[in-house]
Amino acid sequence: MAVKVIIGAFWGDEGKGKCAHFEASDAKVSIRATGGANAGHTIVVNDKKYAMHLLPSSILREDVMSIIGPGVVVDLEVLSNEIKTIKEAGINPNLFISDRACIVLPSDKEMDAFVERIREHKVGTTGRGIGPAYAAKDHRIAIRMGELKDNRKSSTVMDKIRCNVEFTLLFYGNPYIKGKYVDKIENYLNEFKTEILPYICDTQAIINSALANDETIVIEGAQAMYLDKDHGDYPYVTSSNPTAAGACCGAGIGPMYVTDVIGVMKAYCSRVGEGPFQTELFDEVGDRIRDLGYEYGTTTGRPRRCGWLDLVRAKNAVHVNSISAWCVNHIDTLGKIGMEFGTIKVCTSYDYCCKEIDYVPTDSEKASPIYKEFEGGWDTTGCKTYEDLPANAKAYIEFIEEYTGVPVKYIGIGPADTDVIIKE
Ligand code: GDP
Ligand code: IMO
Ligand code: MG
Repeated sequence: MAVKVIIGAFWGDEGKGKCAHFEASDAKVSIRATGGANAGHTIVVNDKKYAMHLLPSSILREDVMSIIGPGVVVDLEVLSNEIKTIKEAGINPNLFISDRACIVLPSDKEMDAFVERIREHKVGTTGRGIGPAYAAKDHRIAIRMGELKDNRKSSTVMDKIRCNVEFTLLFYGNPYIKGKYVDKIENYLNEFKTEILPYICDTQAIINSALANDETIVIEGAQAMYLDKDHGDYPYVTSSNPTAAGACCGAGIGPMYVTDVIGVMKAYCSRVGEGPFQTELFDEVGDRIRDLGYEYGTTTGRPRRCGWLDLVRAKNAVHVNSISAWCVNHIDTLGKIGMEFGTIKVCTSYDYCCKEIDYVPTDSEKASPIYKEFEGGWDTTGCKTYEDLPANAKAYIEFIEEYTGVPVKYIGIGPADTDVIIKE
């Protein structure tokens, strides 16, 4: 039995989807635990590329029970389209959606856009209504997936819909749309029911049974450590807790069951949206990382900001998440950068108010990176085992292990599910 939590160690897009799909190969159950359609998880299997926003990456494995957990906020339209796409690809979704998960309403997306519009310092959200949906959940006026089942909406649901409308009107201040708005939300909730209803259930029963039978379970985190609303670069964060503890909570599994926390990082860093990024590169090297790594957002298509690996942040992520092993992706991409430019840099400490520190200060925008340099690059073409990797690549991997005190278990050398080297 194993309960493996897959966590992004930086600002997202580290390759969690690929890692979770890989880890699910011997699992009974796999759970998407937090976030919503702001996530974009890419998996390449048999030369076919899939981009998941809400479905767990294990959905490509029909023998694994794929769960959307209570901690996820569900965009019904995105989910319905994703289920259709998967079916069109010839896959029968082995899908279970928690009746406790809350629904993202169209008004949440409007509110998301509105708050971004009035901000002077933009967060650069994905526009998927995530913040307002979690806020509605906290206000206890969100509609839950289980409530889609009632043909006639109960008075509790109608009360929550009315509160949502009042709440939205507070921002838009246009009372004459009031009556229509209630209808609009009701219609929206009914629109996607046929596709989605068969999958809604109490997913805790499945998880309890898997735990009781010592089955292997994967929890697929979305977003990442530095987008966490408590531990990230607030306010440049998302509205959930995508750290390991948050993922356990969003799935419905207590921390003592967890056997492995796999921190996923790239061999360099990337970020979409605004916020501090100490090792960001604004030169030709940054542009080349973006080109070679194809660093464009899976959800929004935005070019990702790129820079050198920041091990100060990686080590901090170890403590907050209790990371027990690393998956380091894009070793192929960084090797090419080293070959083209002759040097690779890694941040090992910060200059913070004229002091050298090795932690992430709350006002991290005041910190600038201090680097260790690695000469040369490497080519991973044809490598199948750790021993096959060029010496420079091994030295880089082993430095990550030494600095963070955590072993590297998986090494990504390409986007395909088979482009993974397992380091014993
Ligand atoms: P996630 O959100 O953490 O699941 O990551 P994304 O799917 O948003 O972004 C990761 C990107 O890197 C995708 O385009 C993957 O296909 C790609 N990828 C993942 N691992 C590797 C790797 O080892 N090498 C290369 N070249 N691409 C990779
Ligand atoms: P995956 O799971 C990268 C970023 C947005 C923005 C901030 C807040 O694919 O790694 P939100 O829409 O959540 O309110 O946006 O968080 N963001 C992501 N960046 N990958 C993601 O998910 C992200 N989900 C949110 O760009 O900066
Ligand atoms: Mg992504």
